[in-house]
Amino acid sequence: MRLMDGKVVVIFGVANKRSIAWGITQALVEHGARLALNYQNERMRESVEKLVEELPERPWLAPCDVTDEGQVDAFFAGLEQEFGQIDGLVHSIAFAKREELGGSFHDTSWDGFALAQQISAWSLIPLARHGAKLMEGRDGSIVCLSYYGAEKVVEGYNVMGVAKASLEATTRYLAASLGPSGVRVNALSAGPIKTVSAMGISGFSGILDAIEKRAPLRRNVTQLEVGKAATFLLSDLASGITGQTLYVDSGYSIVGV
Ligand SMILES: NC(=O)c1ccc[n+]([C@@H]2O[C@H](COP(=O)([O-])OP(=O)(O)OC[C@H]3O[C@@H](n4cnc5c(N)ncnc54)[C@H](O)[C@@H]3O)[C@@H](O)[C@H]2O)c1
Repeated sequence: MRLMDGKVVVIFGVANKRSIAWGITQALVEHGARLALNYQNERMRESVEKLVEELPERPWLAPCDVTDEGQVDAFFAGLEQEFGQIDGLVHSIAFAKREELGGSFHDTSWDGFALAQQISAWSLIPLARHGAKLMEGRDGSIVCLSYYGAEKVVEGYNVMGVAKASLEATTRYLAASLGPSGVRVNALSAGPIKTVSAMGISGFSGILDAIEKRAPLRRNVTQLEVGKAATFLLSDLASGITGQTLYVDSGYSIVGV
């Protein structure tokens, strides 16, 4: 059964083949969605252009750095021109300065804190606002990517844990404010996956090992598993679900001592 036939989804956050957003892209293609993708800058354009050659149909591509309001406006203007309306939006974006992802949390700088919040949490608000305008009358769905460090202390995750807590709260507030327009907003809390962003977190391979030892499924999750859960949340199967954080983490988050 194809869950996304006839639906248009815009995905923010494909950088390379390891990106979680790429797993989401693959799952959505499998389910028949038509896609639009951003790339953050010219440096990433080449790798994204090359990657999409693997897909059966070339997605619509345009630049969008979420810290640049003009680029966000231009991206959505282009999207509207191309598709008219959309059904789904995926926010798979995060950033923190490397020096903030390790060491003592009480040394966090204001600049580092603000930048992590701006890119990793706040950016969901303008993307959801623009996206929801193109979802009028379509029962749209928005999905973002979170991590367990939002609710429990994960060594090294530091400023990004606080940004993810903010992202999950933003998800709930957006769900409440966009719900009356029929737009759903949910977060996926993914288990650790070896991506370029994740490798910047000090002690990351120790986190992967801990999941293999202690998670109920005794293994780590894949990008494609996160992609399949995102497809579910974007599809009509999840039509009654909004404001939630769904775990795709081999069950690690239920384990106590
Ligand atoms: N990898 C993990 O272990 C893991 C676990 C849970 C949640 N997540 C979350 O998944 C999401 C995707 O991360 P990933 O692990 O696939 O890494 P990734 O490095 O492949 O993706 C991060 C993306 O953020 C984009 N980005 C950063 N700054 C941006 C900006 N200013 N404007 C536009 N785009 C910008 C990058 O271009 C990149 O595409 C992030 O929100 C991350 O926190 C990752």
